[in-house]
This record gives sequence, structure tokens and C-alpha cells, in this order.
Amino acid sequence: MQNIPHIPVLYREVLEVFSGVEDGIVIDCTMGYAGHSSMILEANPNLQLIAIDQDQTAIDFSTQRLEPYKERVSIKKGRFSAVIKDIIKEYDVSKIKGVLADIGVSSLQLDQKDRGFSYESETLDMRMDKDAPLDASRVVNEYSTSDLERILLEYGELRNYKKIASVIVANRPFSSAKELSDTLKPHMPHGKKIHPATLLMQAIRIEVNDELGELKSLLESLKDAQLPNAKIAIISFHSLEDRIVKQTFSSWSKSCICPPEAMRCLCSNDNQLGKIITRKPIMAQDDELKENPRSRSAKMRVFKMDV
Ligand SMILES: C[S@@+](CC[C@H](N)C(=O)[O-])C[C@H]1O[C@@H](n2cnc3c(N)ncnc32)[C@H](O)[C@@H]1O
Repeated sequence: MQNIPHIPVLYREVLEVFSGVEDGIVIDCTMGYAGHSSMILEANPNLQLIAIDQDQTAIDFSTQRLEPYKERVSIKKGRFSAVIKDIIKEYDVSKIKGVLADIGVSSLQLDQKDRGFSYESETLDMRMDKDAPLDASRVVNEYSTSDLERILLEYGELRNYKKIASVIVANRPFSSAKELSDTLKPHMPHGKKIHPATLLMQAIRIEVNDELGELKSLLESLKDAQLPNAKIAIISFHSLEDRIVKQTFSSWSKSCICPPEAMRCLCSNDNQLGKIITRKPIMAQDDELKENPRSRSAKMRVFKMDV
């Protein structure tokens, strides 16, 4: 077996979500290094798995890692927002029993300096899909001041977004993430736990990979598909994503979807798609936190469709 470059987060909890699923199909929207995929296949010998990733390095690695299960696996390359739509058209949705998304970047993507995800990187890239047209260099060196301000505020939640955008514009072009983070470091909030450039890098990465748009689109497709009895488990790594998941699952659990100001119900009052399994997000236990510090910000929410 190759060296495994990524430890799957919340691995026991993910296994438990899908443990009651005896047969049918589970979709892993973020296969990565197949940590979750291989565990789910191993624990459920009758399950078929469809695994998606947009990163060719992850596809190459995991095609090999999942070789022992190849009769039960179908690997698809692309953004999950698009691939999920094809899957829903192509497959009998009543067979889809589970959907997992462990969104964000993998440890390997973060650790490979040439990918540009780390603030020490010598490149300015950050694309999960190396063929995608938008990279971090274009965002940093070509975006207008107002577009930079928008992403720094919306995706980095940086209070001094105007100052940071003006420093970027005054000092560009930048050729590496390291140069960018070194220049911006004096202007970034200095917390105890995170590197000052973390929120800046997060904002640019979310823009480059349209991470929030991808998540919203995935959830919209799952809602439209109305998968009878499927469990949907989403693991997110920052509050912007977790908020989207929390609010979406909450709206799916409601029967009446009339706006709060409506005087009487006009919506047929039969819109409930199922129930929320996790009132509070599931987080890593102490032993996992010790073994894998990156699990500290992981939050999993689970919804069971019942339509
Ligand atoms: C946190 S890692 C997943 C790790 C995986 N669960 C494992 O156990 O190895 C996230 C992976 O999802 C992929 N990814 C993130 N957003 C994606 C999207 N919108 N479409 C397709 N793949 C995506 C990334 O390329 C990365 O490989």
C-alpha cells in the first residue's frame, strides 16, 4: 500500500452514519485519498460506492487504493456540483442510500508547496483542479479593489478588509503565497491559535474553488432529487460552510416554508424532506484530536431524508 497522505476526520462517526446501510449506493463527493471511501466499502460488503474528486492527483492515488474494491466502485472526476447532477440522472435515486461530503482541502493539497495552498508556498495557485481557469494569481493580481474587498469580507470575515485590499493592490504583482502572506502579515489579526495569514488564504481559496457555491449547489441538487431514505452527512471546516449546512438542513426539516410574515399558510404545508439526525454538529473526540490536529475544526451534520 502507498503511504497514506491524509488521515480521514471523524472516521468512527462517519462509519457509524453509514453502518445501517446494508446495500445500495453511497456517494462520496470528496473522495480525496479514499480514507472514508475505503472504510465505508470495507465495513459494508454489499454497498456500491460512487466517488468524486476534481483533483487528478487524488484520483490517481485513490484509483490504486480502491483497487481491492474495484467491482463495487465507480470513480468520477469533476466538481461535485456538476457530477452529482449527472449521477442523479443516470442512476435509480431510490438506490442512493447515502451521500458524504468532507469539504475543503486535503492534507496533501496543503502540504504540497507547489499547489500554493499554504502560506509558505512558493506558488500562487490554490486550484483543487489544476485545469480550472481561475487561480489565486489571477484573483490577487487582477481582481479590482472592490472584488478583493468583497472576498476578504465575505469569505475571510476580515474586519479591516479595505486596508488589506489596498495593501494588496499597492504591492502587486505577487508571485507566491509566501510573498503575499509576508507582505500582509503586519495587517492581519494576530490570534493565538492560527497563523495571521490563515483568513486571507481561506478567502482566496474559497473564491478560487467557488467552495460555498459548490456546497450550495450540491445541497440544492440533493433537495431536488429527494432521495428516499438517504442519509446526507456533510463535514465542514469553517463557520461559513457550517452555517450553510445548518440552515439548509433546518429548512429541509420544516413542513411549512411560508415566509415568517405570511398571515396564513400558502405553501401546502407538506415540504418536510426528513429529519435532522444531529441537532448539534459532531466534532472530533480527544484521542482523534491528539492523533490528527487538523480534525479540530471539523464539524459533521447529518440529515435523513424520508420522502
Ligand atoms: C478533505 S479532502 C477529503 C478527504 C477524504 N475524505 C479522505 O478520507 O481521504 C477533500 C477532497 O475533496 C476534493 N474536493 C473539494 N471540493 C470539491 C468539489 N467541489 N468537487 C470535487 N472535489 C472536491 C478535494 O480535491 C480533496 O481531494
